[in-house]
Amino acid sequence: APSDPDLVARATAAKAKLGSKVFVLGHHYQRDEVIQFADVTGDSFKLAREAAARPDAEYIVFCGVHFMAESADILTTDAQRVILPDLAAGCSMADMAVLGQVEAAWDTLTELGIAGTTVPVTYMNSSADIKGFVGRNGGVVCTSSNAKRALDWAFEQGQKVLFLPDQHLGRNTAVLELGLSLDDCVLYDPHKPGGGLTPEQLRDAKMILWRGHCSVHGRFTLDSVNDVRERVPGVNVLVHPECRHEVVTASDYVGSTEYIIKTIEAAPAGSAWALGTELNLVRRLALAHPDKQIMFLDKAVCYCSTMNRIDLPHLVWALEELVAGRVVNQITVDADTAHHARVALDQMLALPG
Ligand code: 13P
Ligand code: SF4
Repeated sequence: APSDPDLVARATAAKAKLGSKVFVLGHHYQRDEVIQFADVTGDSFKLAREAAARPDAEYIVFCGVHFMAESADILTTDAQRVILPDLAAGCSMADMAVLGQVEAAWDTLTELGIAGTTVPVTYMNSSADIKGFVGRNGGVVCTSSNAKRALDWAFEQGQKVLFLPDQHLGRNTAVLELGLSLDDCVLYDPHKPGGGLTPEQLRDAKMILWRGHCSVHGRFTLDSVNDVRERVPGVNVLVHPECRHEVVTASDYVGSTEYIIKTIEAAPAGSAWALGTELNLVRRLALAHPDKQIMFLDKAVCYCSTMNRIDLPHLVWALEELVAGRVVNQITVDADTAHHARVALDQMLALPG
């Protein structure tokens, strides 16, 4: 639906009044009505770097989800304020790893004498608490753009990886990019004692995968892939690595949202693409490339409902409050957590390649 013209005018006016004091970041899964006001769009890796590269912007308005705003707060200066236009914009995957659960898992590994050779790696899609835990224990943050590099680095530091919180990104990267076998991976369930694993399983595993997943990408199934191949002969199937292993294995290409966009931009006219990622992004790509046949991998509608909570009314409210001199919905990470999380984030930003 087209954006409300009154709200568009108010957002435009507020941004003009704030000028270079405000910098608006927009994740690729945001609504069109919000994306039109983003000074930069990107995947979570690009946005983290962009936030870190804007020391002059007093206010960073983050159109994304809570963990992204926390990372921006950690990577920006103390004087800068990070604002999330709707505090209810969380991430169900990030919520699947809670600090107390991860500490309990680490205690189990410590009792078994294997914590010392285990390197914790957390996906960007995790709370600042979890990133702080990882930084304290010699690990690294990764995103879907650099998971292979992060795991290569981790296996240079130790013999085993505890991968948080997305089992699919962990498994897909380990098996399809590092050449580990499915048997090298075990699934740690935080709701079961000892993760539901025996000491032998934990000792033998190379990858201990946390039982977390993305509710959006987790909806694509092998049937979705088979079905689109039947309906559209010659179709290229391109999916995000948060999809299930069997979906990724059956696809032609896999990569982060930035990779998906670049691949579609480079695709020849007339080619057909079924995309296994969030629907706002797929719809924008289809509109931007009318010479290519771009479709959603599944028949069901898959928006990220929490990303979609950031809508134009919330953005207008946050911007107009700034114009009035009030900072609303500021996201702050306490200094100790931020310090350790920053170690793990800086380790990511320093990965070679
Ligand atoms: P990227 O932005 O790293 O591709 O991750 C996708 C996602 O699910 C963000 O929440
Ligand atoms: Fe979280 Fe998935 Fe939404 Fe990304 S798309 S914010 S991982 S629920």
